[in-house]
Amino acid sequence: MDVALKIWRYNSATGDRALREYEVDAPEEATLLDVLDIVKDRVDGTLAYRKSCRMMICGSCGMRMDGGAVLACKTRMQPIVEAGHVPVISAMGNLPIVKDMVVDMAPFWQKFRAVGPWLQPGYEQPEDGKEYLIPQERMNHVHKEALCINCGCCVSECNAMESDPEFLGPQALAKGFRFVGDPRDGAKVERLASYNSEHGIWDCTRCYFCNERCPKGVDPRDAIAKLGAESMKHGIDHDLGAKHARWFVVSAKTTGWLRETELVPKTQGIVSAIKQTGFALGLARRGKVPLPVPPHVAERVSEARALHEIVKQQGRDGAVGIVQGERALSKLGHGLDEHGRDPYAEGSFPRPFIADEKGQTPTGGANEGMGSRTQADVTSSAEPTRKPGGGA
Ligand code: SF4
Ligand code: SF4
Ligand code: FES
Repeated sequence: MDVALKIWRYNSATGDRALREYEVDAPEEATLLDVLDIVKDRVDGTLAYRKSCRMMICGSCGMRMDGGAVLACKTRMQPIVEAGHVPVISAMGNLPIVKDMVVDMAPFWQKFRAVGPWLQPGYEQPEDGKEYLIPQERMNHVHKEALCINCGCCVSECNAMESDPEFLGPQALAKGFRFVGDPRDGAKVERLASYNSEHGIWDCTRCYFCNERCPKGVDPRDAIAKLGAESMKHGIDHDLGAKHARWFVVSAKTTGWLRETELVPKTQGIVSAIKQTGFALGLARRGKVPLPVPPHVAERVSEARALHEIVKQQGRDGAVGIVQGERALSKLGHGLDEHGRDPYAEGSFPRPFIADEKGQTPTGGANEGMGSRTQADVTSSAEPTRKPGGGA
């Protein structure tokens, strides 16, 4: 089959940057990685990218296709070719680009090391010298997190890291939960205290792009939620984010509504609340601040209270209470939601290309079902938004 693709070329040593188009003949089973190999072998040997296993295990070949992170060796080209689409390939986001699709992984590994990705045994060695056995059910708690191959696709798409490059990020925190949830680890509380510090779990903006993009189904956002729940369970709630979350629970239990007027003093303290008095008065003048007393209590608040009791009785506080795989963005199916809104409309993120998605045509590419956006919009917006070589 004839495969066409555009590649953002960049050389950090010279500053040269250009979008180049390539067309090669590839076998029908070719992946994006195979096509890059063909381009490098037959067309331009200076093309730079990483690879090793070619089978979704080593995590080397993370890059962006049409603005979204993918594993090149997992991405089949045939449906893309059949749809007449010419994808734009570029380096992952949130990491400095060295050359073409090769990024500097040093900041990634630095955060990985910061979470202590090794077991700190907290158990007595069995006296008979045999293995320390753990039931499989108990290890299932960290099964998803243990699947991580450190590819960086989640980090590439993390919105919190884009605004705060120091944020530990989805990969490091997912790895953190892999040890927090491990029954053999003896440093759970110390780990949680560390992950609750500045640039830690509460800096996540819950955009769910890491869940959306992880090629191994690790669902890092869920791991971060589990770390939050475990922190609360162990009384580690000094961060504003933790206080904020706790007040949501108190509100739901007592009134069935979010008690917004008390949110700031309960979360940030009285002094901070006083400093924001002017802002609060402005809101009040526009009728946006309900009177705190008497608190508005939902008609069927008993249901919220009963739910709280059930969860307590079931012992579902901590990580076991986190529902797995919410996959908020996946639910949107990359198309219009039930209200006809396009989550990838103008001003939002580039729309990922999915060849067999409803509404796509071989000639029209991904245009249909995209509101006012055109394929040209997608192609042009798929270039790296980060200045090459910048950021960390
Ligand atoms: S959910 Fe949190 S960790 Fe995941 S990509 Fe969004 S901000 Fe980053
Ligand atoms: S969590 Fe998923 S996307 Fe992130 S590094 Fe691990 S395997 Fe890759
Ligand atoms: S080459 Fe190893 S994951 Fe793609």
